[in-house]
Parts: sequence; C-alpha cells; structure tokens
Amino acid sequence: MMASSTAISANAASEGVKIEHLGVNNTLVRVESDGKYLMMPVQESNDDATVNVVVDGNLERTIFVRLAKSKVDYTVPFDLTPYKGHDVILNIVTSQSRSSVRDAQDDACWGNFSVADSFNTDNREKYRPAFHHAPKYGWMNDPNGMVYKDGVWHLYYQWNPYGSKWQNMTWGHATSTDLINWKQMPAAIEPNGLGAVFSGSCALDPRNTSGFGSNSIVALYTSAATSQVQSLAHSTDNGKTFEIYPGNPIITLDSEARDPNIFWNHHTGEWNMMLAHALEHEMLVFASENLKEWNLRSSFGKGFGAQGGVWECPDLFELTVEGTGEKKWMLICNLNPGGPFGGSAAQYFIGDFDGTTFTPDTDADGKVPTKWMDFGKDHYATVSWSDAPHNRRTVIGWMSNWQYAAEVPTMQFRSANTLPRDITLFRAADGQIYVKTLPAAEIEALRKKSIHSSKSFSVNKNSRQIALPSANNGICEIILNIDAKKAGNVTLELGNKLGNKVTMIFNPEESTISFDRRESGIVDFSQDFPAVTVAPTFSDKNKLSLRLFIDRSSIELFDTDGKFVMTNLVFPQEPYTTLSVKSDNKAQISGLQIFPLNPASL
Ligand code: FRU
Repeated sequence: MMASSTAISANAASEGVKIEHLGVNNTLVRVESDGKYLMMPVQESNDDATVNVVVDGNLERTIFVRLAKSKVDYTVPFDLTPYKGHDVILNIVTSQSRSSVRDAQDDACWGNFSVADSFNTDNREKYRPAFHHAPKYGWMNDPNGMVYKDGVWHLYYQWNPYGSKWQNMTWGHATSTDLINWKQMPAAIEPNGLGAVFSGSCALDPRNTSGFGSNSIVALYTSAATSQVQSLAHSTDNGKTFEIYPGNPIITLDSEARDPNIFWNHHTGEWNMMLAHALEHEMLVFASENLKEWNLRSSFGKGFGAQGGVWECPDLFELTVEGTGEKKWMLICNLNPGGPFGGSAAQYFIGDFDGTTFTPDTDADGKVPTKWMDFGKDHYATVSWSDAPHNRRTVIGWMSNWQYAAEVPTMQFRSANTLPRDITLFRAADGQIYVKTLPAAEIEALRKKSIHSSKSFSVNKNSRQIALPSANNGICEIILNIDAKKAGNVTLELGNKLGNKVTMIFNPEESTISFDRRESGIVDFSQDFPAVTVAPTFSDKNKLSLRLFIDRSSIELFDTDGKFVMTNLVFPQEPYTTLSVKSDNKAQISGLQIFPLNPASL
C-alpha cells in the first residue's frame, strides 16, 4: 500500500532525510539530499530493526540495525555513493512493542538520521589496541580468508559494518606489508541472495585450475541463511573486490557445515578442503581439481580431542618438526564451547595426511591427545595465511571469546586480533609433537629503546618493583629469564595505583604458569570474564624465559622459545604502571628488558 498523506511526518531534526511513519512497526526514511553516507543511529541494547534498502523502487538489500529507541550510542554509516542520482528509501520494520504510531514516533533514532559527506573513523576509545589489528568501527569476529600476494598480507575478517555486535556478516578487509601496520579497505564480500558471508579461505591459483585466471585470488566461504552452503568467488584486482560465482552454492549438505578451508596439495596435485561439520564434531575432507566441483573423501574428529559444542574454522597444513626435518600435518579445529577455560578455543591435532584421510598421532597409551594452541581465554578462530612467503606458516586469531565478546567495554568497535604468529613444530620430552608459536619477527620494529636493562638480580619474598613505561598508555614488550633455583613459585605482577592487577605465577614444580585477571580492572560485564588461566611451561631445570606484549586491553604471554602462548584480554581502569617480581624462595632474574612500543598505524 502506498504511504498516504495521513502518514505522520516527524522530527524535523533529521538532516537530509524525510521520515514517514506508516504504522506501529513500520517507517520509511527517504534520502532527500546528496551526500556520501546515510548515518544511522544505534542503541546497542535495542533489538535489530529490519532495514530494507529500496533503490528506485527495487529492493537492493536488507540489513539489520539496532536502531536507537531511548538514546543514541553511536551512528553507523550506510554508503550512498553507489546510488548517487537514484532514489533511496529505507523501508524499516522494527520489532518494538508499541501501542500506537505516536509511540513509535518517539524513538530516538528518527531525529538522528542524517546525510553526511564524511564519517570520522578516528577512534579514541581507551581500550582500542595500539598495535593489534582491529576494525575502525563495527563488530569483528573470525579472521578468515587470509592470503599473501605480491608483498601484501591480506586479512579478511567477519565484520558487521552496521553496529558493534554480531550481525550482517560481511568480509571486512585490511592489508599490510609488514604484519604490523594495517590499512582498512572497503568491504570485500557482502551478503547476497544466498545469505550472509561467513568464514572461509582464499588461495592463489597460479595453475589456473579454476579458469578464473592465473593471477586471481579464489575465495571459498559459507553462505548462511536458513541453511549453510558453500560459495565461491574470485578476485582479479588483488583481493579488493570479488566476483561471486554464478553457480553458487557449490557444496550443499543436509546438515550444518561451514568455514571451508582450501589449499593446494602439492603431494597429490589437487585441491583439498576441510569443512567444519559443526554439530557432528568433525571436519570433512574434500578434494577438487578445479575449485568448483568437490568430492567428499573422509571425515575426522568424532571421538577425538575436546568435542565441545560446535567445531568451526578448520585449517590443515604441513610443517617441519624443528631440528629433525621430519614433516607432519597440523589440523586446527576451533571449537565453541569446550575450551580449557570455558567458551571458545583453538585445539589442534598432529598427524599424517595423504590427501584423503587425516590420521592423528597417538601418545604412549595409544590415545589421541588433546592439544591447545593457546592457553588464555581470548584466542579463537585461528587460521593461517595462504601462500605466505619463505615457507612461513603465519597464523592470527580472534582475540576474544564467544562467552563475552559482545559485552566487552568498547563501543565504536568490538574485538581485535592477536599478534600475527609464526608456527613450527617441536618434539617435547613426553615424545609428543607440539606447536611452537612465536610472535612474527616484524613486531620488533615497534620497539623503542629499552627503559630497563638491569643485569641479573635475585628476588625473594619481598617483591622488587620495576616501573613500566607511561607513554602511549604504557604499551610495551617485556622480556625476562627466570631461574627459580630451589623450585619455589615465582610471581610476576602488573599493577596500578587503583589496585588493578594481573598476577602470573610460575610454578616450577608443576611446570606451569598461571595468569589471574580476576582483579585486572573492569571484569564485571560478564561472569565468565574473571578467570585464572594456566599453561604448561615445558620447562626443565626450573628455568623459564618470557616475552610479554602489553597493549591497551590485552596481554600476550609467550615462552621465548615458543613452547606455549597465553592470550588474555584485560580492561585496566588505568594502564598498569609497575611490574613487581617476587619468589617463595630465592630466584634469579636475568636479561630483563622493557621496551616501550610505538603505536602501529591501524
Ligand atoms: C566462528 C563462527 C564461524 C562462522 C562465523 C560467523 O566464530 O561461528 O563458524 O563462519 O563465526 O560469523
């Protein structure tokens, strides 16, 4: 039915738009002036409104936006530039319970739509990372589809451009030439008729097996609507834009399956894909000659490792066991929930793969051991870059946890990624092969001159206090070696004058290190946030060497040799200013260096 002249026009405050209320839950927003963006007012605690974007009378797309009811938290831009010269109307259906149109008219959003030529993405939020990739605005979860091409590291990610909670899944895109500084690019793949664009992967196709051209980047991703199906797209402009394959979907199953991860298997001369059979706790193995037609070969997972809730975001690749030349395959199986400290986490299996079947290694008892890539709470959906140079296997993870990702105290953006990490394998004293994880070497370029380089000193029950840098909210890297001598616990504490603290305890007897963030700052936004996480240190002779990266809202604790890593978010009310070190018995600390870091360009 046409909007009649009796529709109530409201809120003269809106700029460049005309608002027409059609009913208690239905309003038209007409764009009436030229400009690059239609700014939409969001209130995070509100439900999603269904926003149908109608261009020249045709439905262009439907997005879901938490339009403001009682107050505006922030505004998000809808890009009008593709529709310049055309009529744009938002036909909005809200889901509020209201008794009359007059009631609906009072919503805070209507007076706060505007047409603007610029959108300021400068983000001065206190907890915005200074050297970890984060979107300029909007929600982010999984990094996915990462590929390296011609000197550029492409990072795609699950992005909501229209709010800081999960919705409207789109492949966001950032590029870097050094894995430190990231440039935000326009969205790479947007929702279409088959659904939202969930996680997937990219690969170069130099043999032109797909026929899309030898210089193209091929992407596989999950189209998610009522069901989840697998789709194909390719880019001929170095990953900036993707052309959607008209034959999509290319894989359909009668059960939930997602996050296709593809790679060229140079042993067999064909493509392989791992696909998460989410509710079945298994990864499906497919093979293909042309990236379009896929054959199901086998599955792996049922009954192995942590089973948890859903299995998601697989990755499979071959690595060398350090010092031996032995080759093994590493299969990453992210799962949620079921992580070692609750919620989501990344587990992995080491084994063999012949292009058809993944066969996991067993331990001395013939069992398949459960292994974790990271021993913190905030490391998920970790996958690797395809086609990285110099045989590198570089991974990055989402630095959050599905338990509370949507509640963390940020606003204009939500979630960052871990530092990029290079992985190889090592064989430990228990005979098992584990992943070895080091921060990408490029990160050292952020170091300023060390503000502390004491020679060796000893600590006992009285703690030794060391000042942390103050510039740039205290972002820094700390390196130190601990010799716990008589096997007493050694405690490292990061603290500030407000009493916010993070306590890390090296227990040499048990070969563990724990990380207690229960008093780290703001912790009350979720009952699952205050926590103690524990990592095995694999240390012998009571020694441990650590590298800590402290950003504005995260701490990554690496074993210097890469035998474990632990990633935890923290939200201190003020930056931590002091490192204190103490020991139950006498312990020796050597090689302590504290490097203030330069912020990256993000
Ligand atoms: C993992 C995940 C994926 C899915 C994506 C949707 O965090 O659930 O399985 O593709 O997020 O955003």
